Amino acid sequence: MKRTLGVCYYPEHWPEAQWAEDAARMADLGLTWVRIGEFAWGLMEPTEGAYDWGWLDRAIAALGAAGLKVVLGTPTATPPRWMLTKYPDMIALDRDGKPRGFGSRRHYCFSHRPYRMECARIVTAMAERYGKNPHVAAWQTDNEYACHDTVLSYSAAATDAFREWCAQKYQSPQALNRAWGNIFWSMDYASFDEIALPNLTVTEPNPSHVMAHRHFASDEVASFNRAQVEIIRRHSTAPISHNYMGQITDFDHFATGADLDIAAWDAYPLGFLSDRLPATPEHRHRFVRQGDPDFQAFHHDLYRAVGRGRWWVMEQQPGPVNWAPWNPDPLEGMARLWAWEAFAHGAEAVCYFRWRQAPFAQEQMHAGLLRPDSAPAQAFGEAAQVARELAAMPDVGTARAAVGLVFDYASAWAWETQPQGRDFSYFRLVFETYRGLRRLGLNVDILPPDTADLSAYTLVLAPGVATLSQPLLAALAVHKGQSLIGPRSNSKTADFAIPVPLPPNLPGLAATVARVESLPPDVPVPLEQGGNFLHWREKIETSADVVEASVDGWPALICAGGLHYLAGWPDAEALNRILLNLCGQAGMDTDPLPEGLRRRDTETHKFLFNYNAVAVEWGGETIPAAGVLWAPLA
Ligand code: GAL
Repeated sequence: MKRTLGVCYYPEHWPEAQWAEDAARMADLGLTWVRIGEFAWGLMEPTEGAYDWGWLDRAIAALGAAGLKVVLGTPTATPPRWMLTKYPDMIALDRDGKPRGFGSRRHYCFSHRPYRMECARIVTAMAERYGKNPHVAAWQTDNEYACHDTVLSYSAAATDAFREWCAQKYQSPQALNRAWGNIFWSMDYASFDEIALPNLTVTEPNPSHVMAHRHFASDEVASFNRAQVEIIRRHSTAPISHNYMGQITDFDHFATGADLDIAAWDAYPLGFLSDRLPATPEHRHRFVRQGDPDFQAFHHDLYRAVGRGRWWVMEQQPGPVNWAPWNPDPLEGMARLWAWEAFAHGAEAVCYFRWRQAPFAQEQMHAGLLRPDSAPAQAFGEAAQVARELAAMPDVGTARAAVGLVFDYASAWAWETQPQGRDFSYFRLVFETYRGLRRLGLNVDILPPDTADLSAYTLVLAPGVATLSQPLLAALAVHKGQSLIGPRSNSKTADFAIPVPLPPNLPGLAATVARVESLPPDVPVPLEQGGNFLHWREKIETSADVVEASVDGWPALICAGGLHYLAGWPDAEALNRILLNLCGQAGMDTDPLPEGLRRRDTETHKFLFNYNAVAVEWGGETIPAAGVLWAPLA
């Protein structure tokens, strides 16, 4: 496969006279793809029903004439102002019941049925017009579902749709009452029409109610997306993608991704480090101009799974962004490193965001490949270098990993709904596990929670999965390799109650989680062999083998054959030891790496990525600051 580069472009932001020159420069730079259109509804349909496609026809023609391929975005993340006059109630309401206003983007509620009809109408018009256009070689639906906290809406439309969803799922109010345990506090419903959304309650709502709402809201995203996909497919054979975001767990990306051909994501390494990643001040300082060394890779591997092998970076940070608390300038070389890291993890394409920095509106402080005066910005030359390197290099393939790490969106909702300890974050638990694996130089495949076949994996990990699926449990029962399950895994039923018999209920493992406790940050639980449990620990009664114990005498890690259960959240030291032991038992080679250096093997090559701001000596090689090194696998 030929790996390619691209860019996000907004022809509507620039005089038409500039389009041909822009396109020629993109082609010269070695770009293949240009994504356009995703926010341009106001120009496509300036007043209701009056389409203006002329400008878009000419923009696509200009890009196509330069040999570029277009990714055409549907504009449903930015309904024009007239739409709100028509449907004042299409706006999402936040948890406090306040409407989200017009004047930015994503101002819609996924459950508003008339808005869905409007989306179907504009997508149909676009697909009819451009479905056979030779230059439109891929599609993108909407833009970043869930960004700006837009999945959960407490509108009247959402209430209606949630009642319908509950009626479908539970069939009778009595069944719903039983499933949720509504006998507690006299919360029983006599009819589905009595059910409200789980906000504005006096104290916390029933967690089963909250979880039902989370599942419902996730299903709404999937059906909203599916409607667009079905329309586009009727008119076009080009692949369809959506651009997901980093560390967004508000909807099940596997479910939405099942309808798409390509999973894409938007990689802003410095914004993420500044904005959302839990990290020590030292870590932030060390990687401030490079980004966290595992955050991008984690999402590359996650979206490779969501896309069932086909995935892109649709937006790649080129320079400072505008939206994080601080917006440093990337270290020279990072715009190249980030792209190569994506390719080493199997990306088909990496598109920089955006072509030219806009001197107006919200993102005027957001860098592009060009400055507002059209002179090259820092990343321009780095993109050119990547393009030259790609052209000179045979395809490196994408290797299958020997390690599989389960990621489950519903578990993120579960532990947000019932953290039990303030700092219990599912994303963080999985991400720290991933980081521990990558520090050992391992390739990792992320696995969906309903994975039914683990036979390709020597080591499988499933920390914190609230409800292990039947297919996964069955696969674990016959798995020949090593596996590490827990903490907190399989501790809820599908309706969010505590199962009896008590957890973990793993095949062949005689163990009961008898007591659990969450731990304040200054209360670690030391382990006999070094390191601690943090945040969370479980007291286990077991007749299984105890591999490790805590200093206070409780089993910390137990096993039956290769199946291990971990009774707490390990710190980095404990995790490192446990992983090294598991790899040793599994007969897997590890390659423990210096801080900030990461390795990824493809089918043919070994890649090293230096996220440090200084050169690193490793394996007889010097990897420069922000440098990438590759060599054929021995
Ligand atoms: C993304 C978004 C783009 C742009 C970019 C700025 O989240 O999809 O439209 O806003 O961020 O970093």
